[in-house]
Amino acid sequence: MANSSAATSDRAQKPPKPVILLGLGAVGRSLLRQIEEQRPLLEREYDLRIAWLALSDSSGAVAPPESGFTGEQLGEILQLKEDGGALSSHSLGRANTSPAALVEDAGRPGAVVVDCTASDETLDALFLALERGYQVVLANKKPLTAAQEVYDRLNRVGGAASATRSLAALRYETTVGAGLPVIATLDRLVSSGDKIERIAGSFSGTLGFLMTGLEQGRSYSETVQEAYRLGYTEPDPRDDLGGVDVARKALILARGIGWRIEMAQVQVSGLYPERLAGLGVDDFLSALPSLDEEYRQQVARAASEGKVLRYAATLADGACSVGLTAVAKDSPLGRLTGTDNLVEFYSRWYSPNPLVIQGRGAGVEATAAGVLSDIVELHFSSF
Ligand SMILES: NC(=O)c1ccc[n+]([C@@H]2O[C@H](COP(=O)([O-])OP(=O)(O)OC[C@H]3O[C@@H](n4cnc5c(N)ncnc54)[C@H](OP(=O)(O)O)[C@@H]3O)[C@@H](O)[C@H]2O)c1
Repeated sequence: MANSSAATSDRAQKPPKPVILLGLGAVGRSLLRQIEEQRPLLEREYDLRIAWLALSDSSGAVAPPESGFTGEQLGEILQLKEDGGALSSHSLGRANTSPAALVEDAGRPGAVVVDCTASDETLDALFLALERGYQVVLANKKPLTAAQEVYDRLNRVGGAASATRSLAALRYETTVGAGLPVIATLDRLVSSGDKIERIAGSFSGTLGFLMTGLEQGRSYSETVQEAYRLGYTEPDPRDDLGGVDVARKALILARGIGWRIEMAQVQVSGLYPERLAGLGVDDFLSALPSLDEEYRQQVARAASEGKVLRYAATLADGACSVGLTAVAKDSPLGRLTGTDNLVEFYSRWYSPNPLVIQGRGAGVEATAAGVLSDIVELHFSSF
């Protein structure tokens, strides 16, 4: 019997995989680095040779010369972006290239368009890519959380009641839980005909940190201020406390189950009152002690019922909500501490004990590695 390396060398080599990368921020740069570092492994194990077609940022794009980027050119490009520069200023750069124009110009058969932006301006590029038969990988949640009709177009959903989506054309594993295999797990449950009855999850490391602090008897204001000092929050902590990012993840999961639902239908309860919405960041942080007593009482009420508070996304009975929830102390969510993400899937086959995924749900390197895994999996998919 032929050994596996002999079998590999007998196989016809797959053509190089052309990639257009939109966004060279933290995740895009890490992806580029990881792909360059992993070239020997990707080629040896997966017969995958990535050929860069173009790299873009908000200023424009760089395209390689005929022979491809040299290592030195890629190093320069990474350094330029690391230093806060614009790709349009590079010697291979051009300015004012929209993502769609880039796909139009640089795309070629077999291409993958990878969206590592946080922009809602990439949609036309993604539609064009899919129309041309290219594949798409998203780290960007925004295209998936736009109107249902946009989601359907991206997923090529046929009939209105259909939950099917083309796993061969579109991957977005990192949009919920970064490197954790949350979407892959959901897809496997859905595609095997399991019936998902409930999903509950904690999808914000920052809010997980806050919940652990409250459970340990610390005040709301002290814990939020510490998270801010440690750099766990966004520059404006209200961007975390408002729950919108968690709501986007919940919406992606709901649509992944096959629910037809808009962002406006996700009930989001934030962790600060409207009256603090208009303050500057420093004034907001100073006003937080006024909320301490309310949160102390909520923690005590939950504890009196054997429960703890979690900032959770809950999907059940066709409804999707995001907010402070009291959960049983001995449930997977109840046992969660610190900044990890955790998701419980309750289904026909996973009941009463849920299928649980837990781990770090953020991080540039883990996210970029998740994007790379999506590219590798697409390499093996055919339409
Ligand atoms: N960081 C994580 O842990 C994590 C986890 C999961 C998912 N994600 C998602 O991954 C995505 C990237 O995150 P990040 O931390 O890398 O963000 P980032 O550092 O802000 O980078 C965003 C990049 O997108 C570029 N960009 C913006 N508009 C563009 C456009 N119209 N065309 C082309 N490029 C455009 C920006 O260009 P400039 O450089 O010119 O500004 C920048 O290079 C986000 O959607 C984020 O939500 C991140």
